Amino acid sequence: VGIPRSLNTFSDEEIMLRDAVRRFASDVVAPRVREMDENESMDPAVIQGLFDQGLMGIETSPDQGGSGSSFTSAIIAIEELAKVDPSVSVLCDVHNTLVNTVLRKYGTVDQQQKWLPLLSESKLGSFCLSETSSGSDAFALKTRATKDGNDWIINGSKMWITNSYEAGIFLIFANIDPSKGYKGITCFLATKDMGIKIAKKEQKLGIRASSTCTLDFDDLKIPEDNIIGGVGKGYKIAIEILNEGRIGIAAQMLGLAQGAFDKAVPYTYQRQQFGQPVGTFQGMAFQIAQAAIDLESARLLTYNAARLKEEGVSFTKEAAMAKYWSSVVAQRVAGSAIEWAGGVGFTRETGIEKYWRDSKIGAIYEGTSNIQLQTIAKFIQKDYS
Ligand code: CAA
Ligand code: FAD
Repeated sequence: VGIPRSLNTFSDEEIMLRDAVRRFASDVVAPRVREMDENESMDPAVIQGLFDQGLMGIETSPDQGGSGSSFTSAIIAIEELAKVDPSVSVLCDVHNTLVNTVLRKYGTVDQQQKWLPLLSESKLGSFCLSETSSGSDAFALKTRATKDGNDWIINGSKMWITNSYEAGIFLIFANIDPSKGYKGITCFLATKDMGIKIAKKEQKLGIRASSTCTLDFDDLKIPEDNIIGGVGKGYKIAIEILNEGRIGIAAQMLGLAQGAFDKAVPYTYQRQQFGQPVGTFQGMAFQIAQAAIDLESARLLTYNAARLKEEGVSFTKEAAMAKYWSSVVAQRVAGSAIEWAGGVGFTRETGIEKYWRDSKIGAIYEGTSNIQLQTIAKFIQKDYS
């Protein structure tokens, strides 16, 4: 289940990785999902397991301690993890697709040698862009960096930062000269021991095992050597990485939708009412068929965007389409899955309701659905005017 024949274009290496992630998700993640959701915390054994499995450096080259696999492999891993737990999936995604990619693409050789591989739990990464007053309008951020000899002093705060409760590494976007507008935004690498303060851990509707915190920077001192990609280049780094990241979130939402489908559909063929399996009533069968079409369309958009990125051609519009559509599909399929299972779908025991709670985030982070539509619309306007 889950991989349609039309898309069986994965390489042998990608299929091996997919199977390994499936085993890890079923052996290590699945038994912990409910408890982690109830406790609103990530089990450290899961984080360590992800590192041990090589899933936290999928695209990082082997001489830098990574797996040296394709971008599509990273996307497959996110999808497979999300089928079992979207919280674990986003932890892996932020670390791999956002943080590792910034270092791989924009880090100097020295910085890569020092910070890659991000191979231990103490080096879990987080990506610190959003603030209380700048979410969609991310480049209006207020965190400031001022030069002090060979160091930079950062003051301000960040909100909604995934992984930050467990993280050892923080990519912080701060403005070094507000008179330059977004062209003053610079990317700094900080480590936990430099003095990052966690001001608040959010309690959320979904992806509850994934930590989301507010961070305060109070005269946080960062060495000049920890600027990634050059002064004033931070805005471009942030959005170029988010363009890729959006394919990751598309994969997370796709995996989530498939996970809900895989849980609920078999139940409809077991559950008997009026002397027949409920899944065989036409009203149910057609809904299931429509959900299968939704899944197929989300999968095609997501893997097409991933392959375009791999080919080195423009993929920003397709990534926005994939993220937008997979988020719609995730909410739709997870919502239907609850109804297909009737009362038991509404209880916590089956885990189906959790997929629906987790699905809401797809339309919010890494650019809301409106931001994806705005991105797509800009391309259309450019092409047609
Ligand atoms: N790709 C590349 N460059 C882009 C771009 C894109 N998609 N969108 C904008 N830019 C560039 C423009 O080319 C321009 O750069 P130049 O001056 O060098 O040409 C610059 O950005 C500003 O362009 P605009 O004035 O059009 O952009 P804006 O200020 O109106 O908005 C934006 C830009 C902040 C990127 C906005 O479009 C956006 O995407 N907002 C959402 C922010 C977001 O995704 N946050 C996610 C935080 S991380 C996260 O959420 C992780 C997680 O949950 C797990
Ligand atoms: P707003 O920007 O205030 O948007 C509110 C509403 O207005 C939305 O419906 C939006 O679509 C709409 N809107 C805004 N502007 C426009 C427009 N121009 N046109 C049409 N509609 C518009 N950020 C990080 O930096 N790192 C992280 O790791 C991270 N993880 C997150 C994890 C979680 C669980 C959550 C909830 C958020 C996370 N974020 C993270 C922040 C996330 O990226 C932002 O929440 C998101 O970009 C939206 O910003 P906002 O919440 O301020 O909403």
